[in-house]
Amino acid sequence: MLELTRVSKWFGGLPALQAVSFRLDPGRVTALIGPNGAGKSTLINCVSGVDRAGEGAIRLDGRSIATLPAHQIAALGIARTFQNLKLFDRLSVLDNVLAGLTVTAERSFIRSMLRLPTLRHQERRLRLRGLQALDDFGLTEKSAWPAGALAYGEKKRVEMARAFVSDPRLVLLDEPVAGLNTIETARIARHIRRQRSAGHTMLLVEHDMELVMDVADHVVVLDSGRCIASGPPAAIRSNPLVLEAYLGRMEATA
Ligand SMILES: Nc1ncnc2c1ncn2[C@@H]1O[C@H](COP(=O)(O)OP(=O)(O)OP(=O)(O)O)[C@@H](O)[C@H]1O
Ligand SMILES: [Mg+2]
Repeated sequence: MLELTRVSKWFGGLPALQAVSFRLDPGRVTALIGPNGAGKSTLINCVSGVDRAGEGAIRLDGRSIATLPAHQIAALGIARTFQNLKLFDRLSVLDNVLAGLTVTAERSFIRSMLRLPTLRHQERRLRLRGLQALDDFGLTEKSAWPAGALAYGEKKRVEMARAFVSDPRLVLLDEPVAGLNTIETARIARHIRRQRSAGHTMLLVEHDMELVMDVADHVVVLDSGRCIASGPPAAIRSNPLVLEAYLGRMEATA
């Protein structure tokens, strides 16, 4: 489905990604792990068109997307969340989620105009879709709240609802449980599993190894911008390179 081939990215001469290659399988959760500064968010930024890879190929179903602008990549069905929440604090929770439908809405809007239904009908349909996404993420009661008034864990779920509302082909999750307690983390894990059961493909960037081992089908490890290992969670957990580069370093700083 998504295929990266020797993707590299530099910031002012310093490499953030160095010839990274891997593939995402449809309907699977692939975790992307690695120490701070390994290049995980940079990779998500390059795939989602927020940033541009310097070299290499990024293909979605064989089609090159590396040079497309973010809105076109979104229209092709790649949605994302942000490591640092990007919500519109003054807008309602529902409106924040509906923002995730803008791109697809434009397309279906044209289609629906050709069939000449009323605009109100179209709006009602989108709204129902947004409410469904809120329900999926346990946010129904907060739909009219300004997003800024929510607790941190709820905001993380609004980001996820916004990413999934358009029924995207691929969702990139940048640290969905960072800063959450164990109860909230377990809740997000349930949401991720449920979305996978619904057929969604996900790339999960996370430091929480318990969550990664719990929900990932496949793990890719980055260290200093390089892919140093990939494989099933159990194999990654005992890979000496990974232990040294990532887990060992975490223990050293714990
Ligand atoms: N906009 C930028 N300008 C300059 N350097 C950047 C920029 N964004 C990232 N970097 C650098 O690129 C490297 C990779 O950063 P990135 O944010 O992708 O790491 P990460 O794996 O997501 O880390 P973390 O786990 O802390 O979120 C780091 O050295 C970082 O300082
Ligand atoms: Mg990051």
